[in-house]
Amino acid sequence: MTTSTPLPVNPDGTALKGIRGRVLTFKADPFLYNEQECYDYYDDGLVVMQDGHILNVGDYKTVAPEYPQLTDIDAYDDAVIMPGFIDCHVHYVQSPMIGSFGDTLLQWLNEYTFPTESKFKDKAFADDVARMFFRQLLEQGTTTANVFSTTFATSVDAFFEESERYNTRMISGKVLQDRNLPDSLKDESAEESILLTEKLLKKWHHRGRQLYAIIPRFAPTSTPEQLRLAGELYQRYIDQGVYMHTHLDEVQSEIDWVTQLFPEQPNYTEVYKHYGLVGPRSVMAHCCIVREEEWQVLHQCDCGVAHCPSSNLFLGDGEFKYWEAKQQDRPVRVGMGTDVGGGTNFSIPRQLNEAYKVAMLNMKNLDAVKSFYLATRGGAEALHLENTIGSLAPGYEADVAVLSLKPSEFSTWRMQFAKTIFEKLFVLMTLGLNNMNLATYVAGKKVYDRSRAQTHMYASEFPETKISDK
Ligand code: GUN
Ligand code: ZN
Repeated sequence: MTTSTPLPVNPDGTALKGIRGRVLTFKADPFLYNEQECYDYYDDGLVVMQDGHILNVGDYKTVAPEYPQLTDIDAYDDAVIMPGFIDCHVHYVQSPMIGSFGDTLLQWLNEYTFPTESKFKDKAFADDVARMFFRQLLEQGTTTANVFSTTFATSVDAFFEESERYNTRMISGKVLQDRNLPDSLKDESAEESILLTEKLLKKWHHRGRQLYAIIPRFAPTSTPEQLRLAGELYQRYIDQGVYMHTHLDEVQSEIDWVTQLFPEQPNYTEVYKHYGLVGPRSVMAHCCIVREEEWQVLHQCDCGVAHCPSSNLFLGDGEFKYWEAKQQDRPVRVGMGTDVGGGTNFSIPRQLNEAYKVAMLNMKNLDAVKSFYLATRGGAEALHLENTIGSLAPGYEADVAVLSLKPSEFSTWRMQFAKTIFEKLFVLMTLGLNNMNLATYVAGKKVYDRSRAQTHMYASEFPETKISDK
């Protein structure tokens, strides 16, 4: 197919697309290495994209002359072009109950979460929630998320179908839960739940950009038999890049319950390890109250951890201790998670605001370099995708967010008093506005544009960019 206005083409016949403005990207972990060596920043930068990937990134004056055929450039003043944000732990199925009055985690689950998740047997309901969830993520500049659905296959299909429409790189799967929750949400049996998981895994894993996770909700809602079968399945598919995603060490009452249910195990992490559920691409949400021996296992097994400060504060869980997670002799991979509906918004930069305060309660702090690393490359590392997403560099998938430095009248005025880019970014995350993100690119296509009449667009709604008959 050809378009009426020919798009610029490179010698291979594929359209080039550029994004110009301030550009920030991370290449290493600033918790472990000298901060200055962990990022690249260009005041006037250019990102060149082609065929869903990044071709080149650098100073505009250096890079632009290399591409005389590049004329399709989106330019942004006073905004920072960065890798799309990564949400390492979120429940899309809890979007309808975000902001419900909470007491304790376990009370909140029973009162609001389980009744809401029970509705996802209805595919039309699941479709509607998935649609709204993706709109929220993309509006906030999040391009990859590690997502809980719920018990029913309908909830998994609705999620991945919507992800395919945007061509987003997403991780999800059926939630395994066969005890200690209402019958309306319980798996029929451990065996049936694993058969269904494998069927969904075969359907969705590596279909386009979709990736599958085996998801026991948390140890208390699975029988030992379900955990055993889930671990066997994980081990069978581990070499194909399948994930294991669960909750760990969120709040003391939950840890006490796990001790009661699994008295033979020395700690919560060992419960999952015993059943074969701990390995690379195991992602553990929360990890607020972690013993030293558990950190050692998480390090040795190369697990990822999702820090979810908004949720931890909202549910009064506890405080994630990044200085424990990032101990130099046994560092753990850490990214940010919103944990919606425990978290109270979909914005990763707003999670950074909360993470800063959680650290301050312990007389530690998180500067803007570490914070925006956690929001981007840190998340990719937690998901073992650091060679694919989370950085703006040649060969990476072209998922991009564009954060305005002037999202409001007050922030515009305030920014004149901030000098460096990291001072400005710190102000931005601390003001924590909901409209910071101007545009979101997924595999090189601008699927969200705050200033466009049709703000959100599916990948299929873009004009064909390949000019194949040339
Ligand atoms: N632990 C088990 N299920 C959940 C959940 O849905 N949210 C949170 N925050 N913790 C959990
Ligand atoms: Zn959660």
